[in-house]
Amino acid sequence: MAADKQKYMPLLLIGDEQEKMILRYLDRSEVWLLSEDGQDCALCAVTDEGSGVLELKNIAVYPEYQRRGFGRELIEFISRYYAEKFSRLRAGTGDSPLTVPFYEKCGFECVRTVKNWFTENYDHPIYECGVQLRDMLIFEKDLEV
Ligand SMILES: CC(C)(COP(=O)(O)OP(=O)(O)OC[C@H]1O[C@@H](n2cnc3c(N)ncnc32)[C@H](O)[C@@H]1OP(=O)(O)O)[C@@H](O)C(=O)NCCC(=O)NCCS
Repeated sequence: MAADKQKYMPLLLIGDEQEKMILRYLDRSEVWLLSEDGQDCALCAVTDEGSGVLELKNIAVYPEYQRRGFGRELIEFISRYYAEKFSRLRAGTGDSPLTVPFYEKCGFECVRTVKNWFTENYDHPIYECGVQLRDMLIFEKDLEV
């Protein structure tokens, strides 16, 4: 179901660790929440970027629910739900072994790189698996009705 946005900041911060960056897109995002047995498990936030492009601005699964298919379920849900209105789904992520395999498994391909995105836009260095994130990788996939 569509979610009350600010209320989910703890989960949003798992997907994007700087609140100021989240606030740049949250107002214009549609946020979807996935629950199991009344417990919030995962969410995603998407925006209309024009020209038929839907952008996944944030996707996050609480650690205890990760690697159980919730992330894929959200991707599959928005891919179906928005397929009539949008032709491409885009997602930006760091060059990290925690996220790149996930996007590839979900059918995305890397189409370009934005140099120094993380070092220039975040107020602190972000490390994943001991490696500092610098460039943003842009992944895309087709949406088909
Ligand atoms: C990245 C994230 C959204 C993935 O969601 P998830 O529910 O854990 O992933 P799923 O269980 O749906 O995995 C789907 C597929 O990706 C694979 N995958 C997911 N994370 C992976 C990882 N770290 N390494 C290798 N493969 C991974 C799974 O094995 C699965 O493949 P399979 O179906 O062949 O088994 C989630 O782990 C998360 O919230 N991470 C922290 C926040 C974050 O980094 N968000 C993304 C910001 S760009």
